[in-house]
Amino acid sequence: MEISYHGHSVVKIKTNGKEILIDPFIRGNGLTDLKVEKEKPDVILLTHGHNDHVGDTVELAIANNSLVVAPNELANYLATQGVKVHNMGIGGAYEFPFGTVKYTLAFHGSVYETENGEVINAGNPGGILFTAEGVTIYHAGDTALFGDMKLIGERHPIDIAFLPIGDNFTMGPEDAAFAVTLLKPKNVVPIHYNTFPVIKQDPNHFAQLVSNSKVQVLAPGEIANYN
Ligand code: NI
Ligand code: MN
Repeated sequence: MEISYHGHSVVKIKTNGKEILIDPFIRGNGLTDLKVEKEKPDVILLTHGHNDHVGDTVELAIANNSLVVAPNELANYLATQGVKVHNMGIGGAYEFPFGTVKYTLAFHGSVYETENGEVINAGNPGGILFTAEGVTIYHAGDTALFGDMKLIGERHPIDIAFLPIGDNFTMGPEDAAFAVTLLKPKNVVPIHYNTFPVIKQDPNHFAQLVSNSKVQVLAPGEIANYN
């Protein structure tokens, strides 16, 4: 398995001969190293309906016949756009040929705005637990700190967690560092910071606050170590 970070909340996983993109916000993401025309995802996993997470999903999915796995109402909307979808809900897991996806709680919003300014109710926001080849990845999506993170870590020992640290819309560095004490992941990668002025953070400050997990501050395009 190869896991890499691509700025904001974009994570790429290569496993079981498939390429998976989580929250592929590429156009408008000033930090990413990816180009929409060059990406060929077999699968796209979405945490919630905000535009900085759905990003280029429709274009990518139509160009590559990708399967899009998303929270129920968001999946319903994407299906109307001609995308092949798999609907899921919080607490539910499904074993796909490429790995198992389970949706977790996330305390946030989830409204999608179309190009014409139409507002779509995208259902509940979530986090994603993805397990393949015996490796468990937790992508928290956008969320506040919450006590049930302890439950997530207990039920599913996490090899690598991707946690937002940007503050303002999500956890900031202090809350994210506390989240690490609840989740107990072996490795942690800070995400969702420095893309916009309002979420400017020093990821090394977050790294200094964490003592129970290996923190990897990754530049866009860098490969994560999950051992
Ligand atoms: Ni969001
Ligand atoms: Mn966001």
